Amino acid sequence: MLVLGVESSCDETSVAIVKDGKEVLANIVLSQIDIHTKFGGVVPEVASRNHVYQVSLVFKEAFIKSGVKPEEIDVVAVTYAPGLIGSLLVGLTAAKTFALIYNKPIVGIHHLAGHIYANGIEHNMQFPAMALVVSGGNTELVYMKDNYEFEIIGETYDDAVGESYDKVARVLGLGYPGGPAVDKLAKEGKATYKLPHPYVDDYNFSFSGLKSAVINLVHNEEQRKNEIRKADLAASFQDVVTEILVNKTIKACKAYQVKNIIVAGGVSANSGLKARFNAINDGSYNINIPSIKYCTDNAAMIGVACYYKLQKKKDFANLSLNAYANLELA
Ligand code: KG4
Repeated sequence: MLVLGVESSCDETSVAIVKDGKEVLANIVLSQIDIHTKFGGVVPEVASRNHVYQVSLVFKEAFIKSGVKPEEIDVVAVTYAPGLIGSLLVGLTAAKTFALIYNKPIVGIHHLAGHIYANGIEHNMQFPAMALVVSGGNTELVYMKDNYEFEIIGETYDDAVGESYDKVARVLGLGYPGGPAVDKLAKEGKATYKLPHPYVDDYNFSFSGLKSAVINLVHNEEQRKNEIRKADLAASFQDVVTEILVNKTIKACKAYQVKNIIVAGGVSANSGLKARFNAINDGSYNINIPSIKYCTDNAAMIGVACYYKLQKKKDFANLSLNAYANLELA
């Protein structure tokens, strides 16, 4: 099965061609990071306009790179939710236009399902599984009893973990996107600052108190004209965040008797998170984490998710498929 994947939910325009849910024949990702860096974050209208500018180029490049002809595509998969609405609409309209011209079926994919199934490219995903979904907009623990079954058992009450990374990066003057910069700096420091460990019920999360503690600490030290050991502060923040994420995931795995862990979303690229998962694993768990290129937004993951979705159910959309800024995965 040849799936054409299309992803445009935020600031990456991406088109991929994936064979049988595994083999990535092309995965073209045109990032707008350089454009948004000067604003310190993604500006929705600017993102939509750049998707319009880039989308046809990315389609063309995916066919050139893969050597696949448009007529050979079996199904078109497109991210329809959640995300920036203007951005989503560009990818959705492009995908529908392609489907209409070449008379191909179309499948709508939830962006977070895409992140979860990014793991299918390099791992043999097994179920039941516990998915830790950590991105710029979401932090969720998702119990997957079987393929393409999602039950959200916990989520953040406030900031998503990637969002707190970005805000901590801003106060430390590290620019945008902040996650990779904090991660890099954390490797040079030691977790010597005492930061609060938020207590949150069950499998839920809260990162705003921790983030505010870092911001207040920086402001207080600046007012007192004290030196801030930025690398140590980054390491201290990362230490608390990764401890919370890993402990909650393991707690959920024990309660749901799950041995397969899936880590998904942009923050799954975090080196501290990977190291902590590896450190706690005494062989009891099978832990799937994508390689960096599949952690952040890309269309290959959308193509893979489509393959798995169709294994579960022939759930085709029609050309009235619309985009939604907010939509639960379950
Ligand atoms: O999943 P993603 O690419 O986009 C969505 O939010 O859907 O995630 C982006 C988020 C940003 O907040 C970024 O700072 C964070 O993932 N991120 C990281 C790392 N790489 C990306 N956070 C911590 N450590 C990283 N290495």
